[in-house]
Amino acid sequence: MSTTEDRPWSDPDLEPAERARLVLERMTLEEKVGQLDMSANIDPVADAERLRAGSVGTSILASGPWAGNVGDGGVRARGIRALQREAVARHRLGVPLLIARDVIHGHRTVMPIPLGGAASFRPDLVEDALRRVHEEAITDEISWSFTPMMDVAEDPRWGRVAESFGEDPHLVEVMAAAAVRGVQTAGAKENGRPRVAACMKHFVAYGLARGGRDYNSVDVGETTLRNVHLRPFRAAVDAGCLTAMASFNDVDGVPMHANGRLLREVLRDEWGFTGVVTADWCGIGELVEHGVAADRREAARMGIEAGVDVDMVSGVYVEHLVDLVESGDIDKSLVDEAVLRVLTLKFTLGLFDRDFSDEAAPATVWERPRDESALDVARTAARSSVTLLTNDGILPLSRTCSVHVTGPFAVERESLLGTWCLDGRPDETTTVVEALTASHDGEVTWDDGRFADHAARLVTHADTALVLLGEHRSSSGEANSLSRLEVPAGQIEFLRQVRIHHDRVVAVVLSGRPLVLEEVAELSDAVLLVFHGGTETARALVDVLHGVVEPGGRLPTTLPPSTGHVPLTVREKRTSRPLSPYRTEGWDRRYVDAPTPATWPFGFGLGYADARLGVPRLSGECVGRGDSVEVAVSVSSGVSRAGRALVQLYLCDPAAQITRPWRELLDWQWVEVPAQGATEVHFTVSVSSFGYWGRDGRRRVDTGRVDLGVGLDSRDIAWTRLEVNEGA
Ligand code: BGC
Repeated sequence: MSTTEDRPWSDPDLEPAERARLVLERMTLEEKVGQLDMSANIDPVADAERLRAGSVGTSILASGPWAGNVGDGGVRARGIRALQREAVARHRLGVPLLIARDVIHGHRTVMPIPLGGAASFRPDLVEDALRRVHEEAITDEISWSFTPMMDVAEDPRWGRVAESFGEDPHLVEVMAAAAVRGVQTAGAKENGRPRVAACMKHFVAYGLARGGRDYNSVDVGETTLRNVHLRPFRAAVDAGCLTAMASFNDVDGVPMHANGRLLREVLRDEWGFTGVVTADWCGIGELVEHGVAADRREAARMGIEAGVDVDMVSGVYVEHLVDLVESGDIDKSLVDEAVLRVLTLKFTLGLFDRDFSDEAAPATVWERPRDESALDVARTAARSSVTLLTNDGILPLSRTCSVHVTGPFAVERESLLGTWCLDGRPDETTTVVEALTASHDGEVTWDDGRFADHAARLVTHADTALVLLGEHRSSSGEANSLSRLEVPAGQIEFLRQVRIHHDRVVAVVLSGRPLVLEEVAELSDAVLLVFHGGTETARALVDVLHGVVEPGGRLPTTLPPSTGHVPLTVREKRTSRPLSPYRTEGWDRRYVDAPTPATWPFGFGLGYADARLGVPRLSGECVGRGDSVEVAVSVSSGVSRAGRALVQLYLCDPAAQITRPWRELLDWQWVEVPAQGATEVHFTVSVSSFGYWGRDGRRRVDTGRVDLGVGLDSRDIAWTRLEVNEGA
């Protein structure tokens, strides 16, 4: 049994960094390098020798390089505790492992995919959802969670748009910070220290992968990098995120796993990030494939020099770092500082103080009684991600009408869980038919749409046809880019058939990305878009259909009119021949064969109350650079029904040092809309939020005119003018 005397770092009253330093001092170079290795699925028996030699620091639980798409049978807490016991017992200095997993949006309870979380425009909900999910993951002994992804996703062909918080950097930065707080407060003890580390990924600009093709190159200038893609990471650092992951892409020719300028100079030196940076899967070894390292030894040198602390599964650190130090090719301090960060993380998470014995501990989270309150959060989160795109008055659905449910999602469970769902079980997920049958008073009939000819006829027997279309979950996520954004093959034809036979059609599209939905809308009386919503998708959808709650989602990405229009985002910039993305008239159409505007812009989503905004009013016409301004606007209901509305505040800067977008999201507020009369919304905006990174690489806030506008989406905005001066 070790004592505090021979293991002085056992003293829990010392600070994590000090305890880490005490361990580091006693380590051999080989043991140090071991701490920088992350291997997949370390096994206490098969890997006993590695554990004894201390040549592994982290075990990632994953099915392989495409873990988001390939199941692995789930996590077993009992097995992990056995592994940790072995790791601590065998390591000369008793160092436990970090146990890493991609707990992206669900564990036992599955929340909406991140894109659906973003559609809620509710950071409080995203925070709560990730906290609940990580409380379950902690029960299963996960200590490092590779979430949240905060890549600003501009191209919906990219499958990983599903894992993103959308296309707007402000929405993404707010959600990213909320997600970090949610993960790192899960199960936090009295000392306030996190039990599980969040990981901001993928640093950086991966959302710009050329053509939406996964892993592809990124060419991006410094001001765009600063004004868009770095912002969420900065917000995550400020929220206390403990770890970061380098991205697979290069940035202007420099692969991120070798990009010391961004990883060291920006992330660490400029922002003060002191946490661990991990590689992405094989990212360091693949510097060879990337064509910048001649061999694996050079790749290892590049990775450690760039500031990548942990080598995820490529093995090049274990193969080459000892030799690189001993031959003098790299400085020993590079290894020491990386190891110090890894050990500090282990102490911060309390791993050295844990007793991994198994008595009374549940074998897995699945053996615990179901946490109903987590399911409640999942249902609220899913309701809040359902976006109503069109409605000719058919919704909310009368509870007494008869409904025929059809289409591939009628009795589907698995795909409701979305991509990157490693532990959620389809058998704990309700189908739409089950959820509707349980709460509908009228007759509910169904088929799964396999025989389009038959299904289209079955709908004639019901008052309403509920057609559930969309993508299988395997169409989104990592390595799942698409060249076509139209709904999957055959579904439009099917909908056409249904339309021939029925004049009351509600279409629900379930997907992992924004899709082209123009024709779906033409063929339906109402369209709801649901990003794969997790365990409670079906019940939440039925709640919205019945009007128990308002459709709570607003678009976190533009829905393009066709695949050929992408990328098309809320941040279209002013050009020398200005074209607002939402104007159609005259010569400024950008395509001769199609209108340029998006039918459903960023921020769009209908409520049942048909909210209307008044004219925005400012607290003054002039404001100082260091001050704030108040914006007020009234909101009323266009029908005699109360509801909710998302009031969005935008900025337009007509003369800046660089070209800026037509509109930039500054803030938003959900508001309860009364059935009669109106309510007021007030925004307090600090002038510093008008700022941007300019030509000189510095952030600046200009004096002069800006326009502030409010809208219920990013297209129909009522603008008002403001003058910014030097102030007092
Ligand atoms: C993905 C990461 C993920 C990692 C570990 C990679 O392929 O890009 O997002 O965290 O695998 O599974």
